[in-house]
Amino acid sequence: MTIIQFPKDLIWGAATASYQIEGATQEDGRGLSIWDTFSKIPGKVVNGDNGDVACDSYHRYEEDIAIMKDLGIKAYRFSVAWPRIYPNGTGEVNKKGLDYYHRLVDKLLENGIEPMCTLYHWDLPQALQDKGGWDNRETIDAFVQYAETMFTEFNGKINKWITLNEPWCSSFLSNFIGAHAPGFTDLQLATNVAHHLMVAHGKAVIKFRELKTSGEIGYAPNVEWNEPFSNKQEDIDACKRAGAWFIEWFFDPVFKGSYPQFMVEWFKNKGVTVPIEENDLEIISQPIDFLGINYYTGSVGRYKENSGLFDHERVDQGYQKTDIGWNVYPEGFYNVLKYITENYGSVPIYITENGSCYNDEPIDGRVNDQGRIDYLRQHLTALRRSIDSGVNIKGYLTWSLLDNFEWAEGYTMRFGIVHVNYRTLERTKKESYYWYQKVIENGWFTI
Ligand code: NOJ
Repeated sequence: MTIIQFPKDLIWGAATASYQIEGATQEDGRGLSIWDTFSKIPGKVVNGDNGDVACDSYHRYEEDIAIMKDLGIKAYRFSVAWPRIYPNGTGEVNKKGLDYYHRLVDKLLENGIEPMCTLYHWDLPQALQDKGGWDNRETIDAFVQYAETMFTEFNGKINKWITLNEPWCSSFLSNFIGAHAPGFTDLQLATNVAHHLMVAHGKAVIKFRELKTSGEIGYAPNVEWNEPFSNKQEDIDACKRAGAWFIEWFFDPVFKGSYPQFMVEWFKNKGVTVPIEENDLEIISQPIDFLGINYYTGSVGRYKENSGLFDHERVDQGYQKTDIGWNVYPEGFYNVLKYITENYGSVPIYITENGSCYNDEPIDGRVNDQGRIDYLRQHLTALRRSIDSGVNIKGYLTWSLLDNFEWAEGYTMRFGIVHVNYRTLERTKKESYYWYQKVIENGWFTI
């Protein structure tokens, strides 16, 4: 038996996002987001599900906070629905939208839970999409205005801010692969969107400093680990490209003030360029206070001509898979954290998401999600190892507090440590919840 012990000051938490849990999409003046529109298009979301009700956390946030309090977490990461604050993207502020987040944040603080606020977790106001969305640089200005409103309104209450969640998803997955809203399949468009998102991030950081907002600001890109199948140079290069689409593409501009040249060349050969304007890279490379990392999976891959965007294919090595089909790959978690530290320095890191999909249902009031416990145990063990290797880990927030609307998968894929019955909206704490509660209480667990 080995004891895996964590530093006393590590911040334990859990995460969610607005469209995935809130519901109440028609309430208190909220405008439409691109996810309201997209989820209503037949064929886009499994079972035709949408976020109209979701977990109904808009009304049940007090119950959810009681669950967090009992869990013992020190931080809760949530996102703000931009169309609740600016129903039309710009223009008049919707006070009732702000009021909801005040109620939520006040209740968290009352319970000794630190709010960690994500400004953009993909629910772009539809009114902005109608004018071109993130392809249009006016959306950057609208975002900065929205960010300013939030910084001013919640200054002193919220001390941890995340500009963007997983910009790879809101650009390439949404505008090139087409799986997420707005659902386009155009690589040049997606590249524009990715760049404009990063400029919006940089401008929000500048605004945050100008306003002398208290607290810290960062962003939360998603990373995967791509392990070469063999030591052949072509396999190594293919994995390098596949990984850089997530890492270098979204990290180099922030930490180095440039795009990775080998990727820029690769895109150029596909007829795609980054629409960089004067000062953009200076704006994007504003120093940040912390880096959020979302990690779920990794894979072994190799070179294959004309396979995907990068002449890369995955090779199944028989790893266990979660119910959504993703490899359980804890070594990738360790490797990617070490890689980031080696390449970008010892930036303070919060694991803003890590978790797994297991669709266990309650039996006699108990949800025995052993798969999730095993996943957490393995990933926390890898996290501990990364701390020993000098990775500057400040906190760990699991995804997710609740089962919720899993985007294109609708309600079919469950990531929560708390089960949600989508008919009755009843919450049931899973076995993984009790396991995590103990880890938080003790600061250690055994393997
Ligand atoms: C990343 C996203 O930020 C979150 O919204 C999603 O539910 C989880 N990964 C699981 O796919």
